[in-house]
Amino acid sequence: MNSFISWVGGKKLLRNKILSLFPEKGTFSYYVEVFGGAGWVLFASGRHAETEVYNDTNGNLVNLFKCVKYHSEALQKELDFILISREQFFDAKEQIEIRGLTDIQRAARFFVLIKESFGTDLCSFGIRAKNVKKAKDYLKVVSERLQSVIIENQDFQKIIKNHDRGNTLFYLDPPYYGTEKYYQDKFKPGDHIRLKDMLDNIKGKFILSYNDCGYIKELYNGYNITEVDRTHNLVCVGGGSTKPRYKELLIKNF
Ligand SMILES: C[S@@+](CC[C@H](N)C(=O)[O-])C[C@H]1O[C@@H](n2cnc3c(N)ncnc32)[C@H](O)[C@@H]1O
Repeated sequence: MNSFISWVGGKKLLRNKILSLFPEKGTFSYYVEVFGGAGWVLFASGRHAETEVYNDTNGNLVNLFKCVKYHSEALQKELDFILISREQFFDAKEQIEIRGLTDIQRAARFFVLIKESFGTDLCSFGIRAKNVKKAKDYLKVVSERLQSVIIENQDFQKIIKNHDRGNTLFYLDPPYYGTEKYYQDKFKPGDHIRLKDMLDNIKGKFILSYNDCGYIKELYNGYNITEVDRTHNLVCVGGGSTKPRYKELLIKNF
């Protein structure tokens, strides 16, 4: 199934390639998506393992996932009151900052910002006719898929430490080297090294996505690295319709 949202760096186009690198089903009991985002790999197949974990540091995103999981009908109702228009988009952007909203009110506004912003930047209104009813109806399906998923809101270091076992598979999709500014939760250059130091010492297996750059290749020298080709969803050169192709890395410890 598809995720219910787009997200910067989302793995919609690469999810099948990533799944093809998973160890055989049944050989791992824990599946942990450490940098969850829109969860494209999580949603790409039915249950990956007995225990599944979705994590992200973005509080609004995690609140949205939790509301979809536990209160999908109330969220759908709340969305009925939000018309899709430029005015309501900017109202949602302001309102999400104020205190006193319920989790459902906050989730609805964040959903609107995701759905209606240009390139999911959450800031600029993208003038596109969206099938809001379809998106709202889909929340029920997503809610069912999430019933077996534990939703966490922690820094990656804590999540890896808490869930690391011999039979854990981690999928990690951190903000890419040099693209950290596109995310609301800032990822600092030192965080790439902090992540590498963690991964060097885990008991479980990991698959890690990165942009193809010399720094990352050097950092993960010695690991099993696959280069894959894809189109770029962060930029569109010269505003034209041809998206540039570029390479990504899939790094594994098995
Ligand atoms: C490239 S996106 C993940 C995209 C996701 N794989 C998908 O398919 O949509 C990276 C995510 O990492 C989150 N993030 C940033 N810093 C983090 C941290 N220190 N620990 C956990 N998540 C973090 C961001 O909020 C962002 O959602």
